[in-house]
Amino acid sequence: MNDVFSRRTFLSLSGLAAAVSALAGTLSWQGGTAKARAAEKKHILILTGSAREGGNSDLLAGAFARGAREAGHAVDIFACGRAHIRSCLGCERCWTGGAPCIQKDDFDELWPLLEQADMLVFCSPLYWYNVSGHLKCAVDRLYPYSKKTKPRDLKIREAMLLMCGESWFEKSFAGAAEAYRQMTGYKGWKDRGRLFATRVFDKGEVAGSSVLAKAEKMGREA
Ligand SMILES: Cc1cc2nc3c(=O)[nH]c(=O)nc-3n(C[C@H](O)[C@H](O)[C@H](O)COP(=O)(O)O)c2cc1C
Repeated sequence: MNDVFSRRTFLSLSGLAAAVSALAGTLSWQGGTAKARAAEKKHILILTGSAREGGNSDLLAGAFARGAREAGHAVDIFACGRAHIRSCLGCERCWTGGAPCIQKDDFDELWPLLEQADMLVFCSPLYWYNVSGHLKCAVDRLYPYSKKTKPRDLKIREAMLLMCGESWFEKSFAGAAEAYRQMTGYKGWKDRGRLFATRVFDKGEVAGSSVLAKAEKMGREA
């Protein structure tokens, strides 16, 4: 992410980090440390990716938040789909105005939440086999926290991925899951789990499905 950090180095390091992180995530998920984790109160930030208020991703996020709050965690939900956040300009003027980014938009409300978060949960509808553009624009704006010249980084250590889509098949989410795997690996965030709600298209269709109970459980065990 800087002049001397070649693309090849970046790709091989992020691949290696992703593999180590994936292994660590798998081991910890099966390691029976849920009790110890629950004792630790975290700031959890959920980034949702739909403009549809009360839609399926909002319901997934709500169920997860309910479980996490029940377990004693502090939870913020930021609706990227209803905020106005432009993508990164790649202008390299991060931090020059004192804030992470020189653009003035709703990212000004998001970055303080990002900086206090211990865990980041991505919760998006599947749009063209990926996360939504709304969510992706917000993710692109994490760039100031990944440059070599950054004055500070995020304290996020863990992440989760929750998604919903019309498709009947979990494999339809594979592209988004792979981007998430690479990203968490690069940032050194532990993957704490993924949940894909298939066969939901209409607004609120996921209500009453067992997948909401799963999301709530993931929140309780976060
Ligand atoms: C622009 C757009 C693209 C979509 N692309 C896909 C897709 O690639 N695969 C899929 O299974 N569903 C796709 N869908 C359906 C949504 O993922 C589905 O309706 C989802 O439940 C919406 O979540 P929401 O209620 O939180 O907005 C798409 C919907 C829209 C509006």
